[in-house]
Amino acid sequence: MELKNLVGLKDISISFIKEILETTSSSREILFRPLKKIPTLRGKNITLLFYEPSTRTRVSFENAAKILSADVSSITATTSSVAKGESLKDTVKTIQALKTDLLVIRHPVSGTPHFISKFVNFPIVNAGDGINEHPSQALLDAYTIMDKKKIKLDEFKKLKIAIVGDILHSRVARSNIWCLTKLGAEVRLCGPATLIPKEVEKLPVKVFYNMNKAIEDVDVIMMLRLQLERQKSGFFPTLAEYSRFFELNKDRLKYAKKDVLIMHPGPIQRGVEISSDIADCLQSAIEEQVTNGIATRMAIIYLLLK
Ligand code: CP
Repeated sequence: MELKNLVGLKDISISFIKEILETTSSSREILFRPLKKIPTLRGKNITLLFYEPSTRTRVSFENAAKILSADVSSITATTSSVAKGESLKDTVKTIQALKTDLLVIRHPVSGTPHFISKFVNFPIVNAGDGINEHPSQALLDAYTIMDKKKIKLDEFKKLKIAIVGDILHSRVARSNIWCLTKLGAEVRLCGPATLIPKEVEKLPVKVFYNMNKAIEDVDVIMMLRLQLERQKSGFFPTLAEYSRFFELNKDRLKYAKKDVLIMHPGPIQRGVEISSDIADCLQSAIEEQVTNGIATRMAIIYLLLK
C-alpha cells in the first residue's frame, strides 16, 4: 500500500512511520551539500495554504519542496481571497483548478485536512489542525531523538520520554503520543490537571502532575508552549504560578538524568515553559529540530509524490 495523504499519525501504520524516518535520514545528507538541490520533483507544483501563523513549518515545507526542485506557491488566509469571503472548500477547489500536485494546509479547525482529502485529487499534508495533530512535527521529533540518542528505529523501546506542559491544546503532543508509542517508547505526560485532557485515560501513556517526578529517569524531556491564544481563563492562577511548577529550568533539571535530551517544537516562550539558559544549553536540540524539519518534510513530500 502507498501513502496517499499525511493527515495524522493516529491512523497511520508503523511501516509508513518507519519509511518516512528512513527517507529522512537520506534527505538530511542533501542539506549539508554546498549545492542543496536535486531534480527529483522537477515539474511538480506544491501549494502551502496557512490559515494560522507559522515560521518553522511553513518555511521548512517551502525549503524542502525547493530542494527537491518542485515549484511552490504560498498562500496565507489574510492575503488571499479567503479575506474576501471565499469558503475553505472553494479555496481548495480553486487550488485544484490551478493544477497543484500536493497541498500542505494549516487550519485552526481540527479535522480540516481529513475533510479536504475527501474531495481533491492530490495528496494533503496536515501542517497542524486545531488541537488535533501536527504529524510532520512528531516525525521530525522522532528523527531528532534517533539522531541525538544514536539509536536505531527498533530501539525506541529503550526510551522514556516526558511531554510537559499544555497537553490539552497541543496537536504536537497528540501526534507525538501516537508516533512514540507506536515506535515502542514509554511516554509520560505532565502538566496542571486542568491542561491534561480526559482522553489520555484511554491512551498508552503515564500521567504525572508533579514535574520533578515526571522527568526522573527519562531520556528526553519535550517541553510544550503554553498556548495562551487557544485558552479561556481559569486553567491556572497566574503565569508566574504556572512557571513555578512547570518551567524547565536549572533547578528542576537536577531531577533528570545528566544526559537528558531537551526538546521543544517552538516557538518557545523563554521564562514561561523553559528558562533561557536551558533553551540554549548543549543538551537542547531545539535548533536541530528545526533543521531536521526540512529533511523530514522532504521525505514526506517525496514519498507522497514519487
Ligand atoms: N512547531 C511549529 O509548528 O512552529 P511554527 O508554528 O512556527 O510552524
